[in-house]
Amino acid sequence: MPRSVLKDQCYPLVVRVSNCARSAGAIRAEPKLLQGGTKVTPGQRPRKYLSGGPWCYFVFWSFLVMTLGCWRPVDFTWFSLAVGFFVSFCLHRFSSHLPLRLGRSLAFRCFQDLIRYGKTKRHSKRPDLLRVFDVPKRWFGHFYVVSVLWSGFLITLSLRAVLLEESLPKWLLKTVGFLTGGHVSNNVPPSVLLVQILLWVHGLRRLLECLFVSVFSNGVIHLVQYAFGLVYYIFLALTVLCVDVSSSQEALPLLSQVKWYHAVGTILFLWASWLQHHSLSLLARLRTGNSGTVETLAHRMPQGCWFDLVSCPHYFAELLIYASLAICVGGGSLTWWLVVLHVLFNQALAAQLCHEFYRSKFKAYPQQRKAFIPFVL
Ligand SMILES: NC(=O)c1ccc[n+]([C@@H]2O[C@H](COP(=O)([O-])OP(=O)(O)OC[C@H]3O[C@@H](n4cnc5c(N)ncnc54)[C@H](OP(=O)(O)O)[C@@H]3O)[C@@H](O)[C@H]2O)c1
Repeated sequence: MPRSVLKDQCYPLVVRVSNCARSAGAIRAEPKLLQGGTKVTPGQRPRKYLSGGPWCYFVFWSFLVMTLGCWRPVDFTWFSLAVGFFVSFCLHRFSSHLPLRLGRSLAFRCFQDLIRYGKTKRHSKRPDLLRVFDVPKRWFGHFYVVSVLWSGFLITLSLRAVLLEESLPKWLLKTVGFLTGGHVSNNVPPSVLLVQILLWVHGLRRLLECLFVSVFSNGVIHLVQYAFGLVYYIFLALTVLCVDVSSSQEALPLLSQVKWYHAVGTILFLWASWLQHHSLSLLARLRTGNSGTVETLAHRMPQGCWFDLVSCPHYFAELLIYASLAICVGGGSLTWWLVVLHVLFNQALAAQLCHEFYRSKFKAYPQQRKAFIPFVL
């Protein structure tokens, strides 16, 4: 399939994912808490997770598979990650129907250990063997140190290429060439430069929040999750250099290449960043008094702003931030939509676990509150 056709088809990917999930009812909030390994009452009808339109999933995944012919290594990587989180999400949702013996097996506990972190890991029964791999969740800040340094370095190289017309270093061209299957250009389009800068801003804000806003408890993450987080931000910054954007106007001066979608994407990025910051500030305030001193490290019920709609507005904001970057590159980059797809399933899984945690902990938890996407999921 020609790449231009592919671009047109990929634009509404996220909308499709959201609509498919909604109509399929597969990622709907539970009416009652279901935990992995719980027994299904005899005679109880198993939940139809795919009721109401499994064909939506079929159409969606078939569409992606049909386009495989023109995918590049970087696309396959993000697609694999997205599938991994989607499968984990489904496995977790189905796990409440597992026979008790399977639910208590070491393999299942390892799986739960790998998908949970922080507060959602706290109350799960974990063998001592698995605790060996625990690292503090406050090390989340390390991800953003890597992101700021690495992205900052790549932005410097890009700026030199754009402003001084210097060539990108050979090792970088080789790496990008490997990820794109040979499609490599020394030209850095303005859309790519904009996404690089916005991602750097995102990393810097998150770093400052980790250092000065968030109040961490003694929660933990798995060593594998920690390693994944470090590699993730290195790979993400390289992916930006691989996005497939039109460079037909590369001869024009930089400013005259500015497009309406750069403005739309940047405005959405700024708003989503505000939403995420505000949500994280509200979470921090649950632990601090008016004077700003830490009063407790307990997990309290969040309220106010978008917390009245969803349990995890900061995860929803993360999805919007990545979607805004897809708009900044013109909305036609399959590679970046696959990144967004990965963030969608990754954050949906984390939000689902968090939502279940709140519902089990707070008896008066608002029933109408969704986990992740307001009114949908
Ligand atoms: N792009 C990606 O792949 C990706 C992956 C993961 C996260 N993220 C982003 O990183 C950000 C942080 O994620 P996260 O999973 O760490 O969020 P989180 O679990 O909600 O934690 C955020 C902060 O709030 C505290 N907290 C959480 N729930 C609380 C409660 N009920 N009462 C009081 N304090 C509470 C946490 O403390 P403790 O947990 O220490 O108790 C932590 O300091 C999010 O915006 C998320 O979107 C992105």
